[in-house]
Amino acid sequence: MNDLRSTFLPLAVAACVSTIGCASLAIATAPDKQAVHDDSAGAKVADAAFWSTLHGGHYEQIGGTLDLLEAAYLARPNDPKTAAHIGFLHIWRVSERERMETVPPTVTDDIALARRYFDEAVRLDAKDARIHGFLAATMLAEGRIHSDEKLTRKGFFEMQDAVSEWPEFNLFTRGYAMSGLPFDHERYAGAVEDQWATLDTCAHGERIDRKTADFAPYMGLETRTGRKRTCWNSWIAPHNFEGFFLNMGDMIVKAGDPKTARKVYAQAKLSKEYSAWPYRDVLDRRIAQADENVTWFRTPAKGDKERRIMGDSAFACTGCHQQ
Ligand code: HEC
Repeated sequence: MNDLRSTFLPLAVAACVSTIGCASLAIATAPDKQAVHDDSAGAKVADAAFWSTLHGGHYEQIGGTLDLLEAAYLARPNDPKTAAHIGFLHIWRVSERERMETVPPTVTDDIALARRYFDEAVRLDAKDARIHGFLAATMLAEGRIHSDEKLTRKGFFEMQDAVSEWPEFNLFTRGYAMSGLPFDHERYAGAVEDQWATLDTCAHGERIDRKTADFAPYMGLETRTGRKRTCWNSWIAPHNFEGFFLNMGDMIVKAGDPKTARKVYAQAKLSKEYSAWPYRDVLDRRIAQADENVTWFRTPAKGDKERRIMGDSAFACTGCHQQ
């Protein structure tokens, strides 16, 4: 407090005519937090634990891994990656809550924490539009939890920005974040269209056939670099391609079109890594049960951990990230 006073006193004396004026001035002139890459031993241990937890699908280890990351963050709170990864563990915990024996209402608090850390990460590194998309998604979720229309709208516009910055990644993110809406909600059809639009942009602007969903002609475009890399599998998301089509099929089943959904699901099998995907049996059951799943996905039955739309399932993150 003493530091703050001595920094601001001369200015404050000159410009403060009210408490509100003083507060806005002091806040507006506070220095921006600067990003500093943390290459300490503690940060490296926490980073390795983060990836082995996510890639191993070790949901039960989220708490212990969070302790390592938060210790690293407290020691050096300026690394955007550490901040983002704390946000990711919180959003993972709430997204895959179906893994818990009983889901406590307090699990929703993970959304607030995820938003807080994504916000920190984006302020430190505004260039990573992937994290911007996740921040927007947590704002939308928090807006819904609190029935806070202002926050929901803010999240919506943040998401528009994130989509413009990195469409290959954030068209998916936007649609996925909305996949839990009721099938007859005014935004649901747009969320499905976001998945088609992801495919179009991944096919370098060619329009994917909305009936056959045939992606085979574009498999030669696979890349590990640039923005288009997020259309494909990678070290970060070893089964992104398969998980993408699993979710898209689910969203189309929920929309009421199991015939097209079966075609969409089948595209997952084009992946070179398909045979190593831990959820390939789920995909086969999805194809077999597509007609009945229209009802299951529209009214998620309590107690069944598998027959619910991917975004609301026990593999909402690991469907793409588990090795
Ligand atoms: C449809 C597949 C898919 C789903 C579902 C998905 N992700 Fe991802 N995720 C990706 C892709 C693709 C990337 C970007 C990879 C890249 O940058 O090369 C990514 C990036 C990430 C990163 C990397 C951040 C970094 O430091 O580079 C993390 C962590 C992550 N996702 C966690 C999650 C969590 C937690 C969930 C669940 C809430 C989730 N993802 C859901 C596909 C997915």
